[in-house]
This record gives sequence, C-alpha cells and structure tokens, in this order.
Amino acid sequence: MPGILLETLKGRNVTPRPIWLMRQAGRYLPEYRELRAQKGGFLELAYDSEAAAEITLQPIRRFGFDGAILFSDILVIPQALGQDLWFEAGEGPRLAPALVDGAWSALESVPKILDPIFETVRLSRAQLDNETTMLGFAGSPWTVATYMVAGEGSKDQAPARELSYRDPAAFASLIEAIESATLDYLVKQIDAGVEAVQLFDSWAGSLSPDSYERWVIAPTARLVAKLHDLRPDVPVIGFPKGSGEKLPAYVRETGVDAVGVDETIDPIWAAKNLPAGIPVQGNLDPLLLLSGGDALNKGAEKILEAFADRPHVFNLGHGIGQHTPISHVESLLATVRAWRA
Ligand code: CP3
Repeated sequence: MPGILLETLKGRNVTPRPIWLMRQAGRYLPEYRELRAQKGGFLELAYDSEAAAEITLQPIRRFGFDGAILFSDILVIPQALGQDLWFEAGEGPRLAPALVDGAWSALESVPKILDPIFETVRLSRAQLDNETTMLGFAGSPWTVATYMVAGEGSKDQAPARELSYRDPAAFASLIEAIESATLDYLVKQIDAGVEAVQLFDSWAGSLSPDSYERWVIAPTARLVAKLHDLRPDVPVIGFPKGSGEKLPAYVRETGVDAVGVDETIDPIWAAKNLPAGIPVQGNLDPLLLLSGGDALNKGAEKILEAFADRPHVFNLGHGIGQHTPISHVESLLATVRAWRA
C-alpha cells in the first residue's frame, strides 16, 4: 500500500491527513546541527550522500512525518550550469559570475556534480518504510533565475525582473536552460526513487500579471507536461509562493497535480476557488508554529476544517524557522493526527 501522502497527491481525500513540513530537515533539529558542525557546512552536507541521507531521515525518525524530502537545495542547478555557489555566514547564498545580462552560455556546465544527490535519494529510499513517501524537488525556472541573475538573494528580485524587460530573448534563453537542466534532474531523482516532486517557486509573488504568465506559468506548464510525458505516475506539487488571486489560474494552466499555498491565503477562499478535486498543501503560518500554545492548535484545526472536502496535505505556508521548539512540532502532529472530517 502506498502511504497516505502519495494517495492524497494522487487525488484521494484521505484521513487522517498526511503531514510533512517544508525545511523539516534543518537547523531547528539538534541532531542536524551536530552533523553540520562535524561536516563543516551546508554544501558539504548536501554533496555527502551518506550525511545527506541521514539528514533526510532525521525528521522521519523523530516525528514520523508522512513524507521525507530529499536534503539538498534549489541552487545546485545553477552550480550544474557552471556558476560557483557558496553561502556567506549569516547572509545567504552567493553565485558567481552573476548573470546580469543573462549570458549563461559562456558558463561551462558540469551536470556530473549532481550525481551524489541521486545517491542520496537511493540511500534514503532504502531506509524508509513503504508508508513514507520520498519527495524530490527543484526550484522553478523563475525562482532559480532570480538567484542566477542577481548572484545572491535580491530585494524584490529586481535584477531578474529588469533583465526580463530589457532583454526578453536573453532572459527566455536562460529560463529555457534552467528548464531543461531541471527536467533532467527531476527525472533522475525519480529514477533513483522519489515518488512525487515539488517545484519551489518562492518568488512567484514578485511578478506583474503578464510577467507571471510568461515566466512562472509558461515554463512550469512546459516542465510539468514533459514530466507527465516521461514519468506519468509521479505527481508534481507546484508551490508558487505569493501568487494570491493568481493561484486558480496557476493550477489550471500549469497542469500541476497538487498545489502548495502560503500562509497569506485564506484557506476558506482557497477551498472554494481552486479547481475541484485538486489536492491542496498548506498552509499554517511558520510563525504560529514558532509561537505555539492554544492558538497553534486552533489555527491548525481551522485549516483542516477548511479543506475537509478535498484532498489535503497538511504543511506550513513556508519553511519551518530555525528557532521553532521541537515540542510545538509534536503538538501540531498530535492535532493533525487526531482530526477527522
Ligand atoms: O525542505 C527541506 O527540508 C529540503 C531541503 C531544502 C533546503 N532548501 C535545505 C536548506 C529545500 C527544499 C530548500 C529550498 C530552497 N533553497 C529555496 C526554496 C524554498 C524557500 O525557502 O523559499 C530557496 C529560495 C533556497 C535557497 C537557499 N538555500 C537560501 C535562501 C538558504 C538560506 C541561507 C542561510 O544562510 O540560511 C539556503 C540554505 C539552506 N538550504 C539551508 C537548508 C537546511 C540552511 C543550511 C544551514 O545553514 O545549515
């Protein structure tokens, strides 16, 4: 029997609700901090298949989530396309050279650097029981492009947006290069053992409606169509953070199998306005999980009730914060496990 997460992503309204949390493997776990201190840093961990598999499994052992998400990062695709990647302590990612003109073809691509990640998938899957779904992921072309163009996280993603207006052909070519590397990367994750994939579009919310159609919806639709063609049994979760009222169009036009919604969306609005039958994933505020108490359990129940009539995967609206107490995660799990439609 496949687990309740995979069943839900395939469109069945299952209770108890499956639950996993974005960034569930990470700094809020003492066992993660310990292994990270031994190995030196985040990227060292991500490319060490045994360590990365161990980290993938840490939150499963501790909490028994229904999904294990591959421990890696969306920025390994720019690395495979030939950019240097490193993390500045306390600041965030850096990529060089920054592609301010979009000239990615001058880079030398190194697809082989991704091989250890597929080994992480194999090692993780081999240690999971059949009820726990192995999730793969990648960034969406737009969100990955924002980092490649700026060379770092950027306010309002201005460098990529500006390039998209100044030189749409160059920007389209960059988007297509990311799209094609991402397709290959996800197919290889699937062949190594992932059973569903999530596309993280963390910066979908910064685009005007026309740009959203061209740089979020169109590339995602092409990627989803090719994935469905090549690996038809594997559900694709789209997570276009910050999309607001554009969410129903995103779901209809991209063909994703399930949609992640962030914490700014009213779950009652989402339940009513998203296409019927589409599984929804979300959308507890990560800061409510950090704060805890009775408000946490009430907030979780409100979301569970709102999505009662359609398939629902419980998750946060964005990644779990590093200062989140373990006891709050335990309390949330108890609430979600106890809930019945
Ligand atoms: O969800 C998971 O547990 C799977 C692993 C995962 C990571 N990053 C691990 C990670 C996933 C799915 C991501 C996605 C990711 N990475 C996104 C999209 C989702 C989002 O959060 O918006 C983005 C934009 C990135 C790029 C990135 N990687 C940033 C901005 C940072 C933070 C930099 C910092 O110094 O905190 C990272 C690093 C990163 N990726 C960490 C983890 C656990 C922190 C690593 C550490 O310091 O130990």
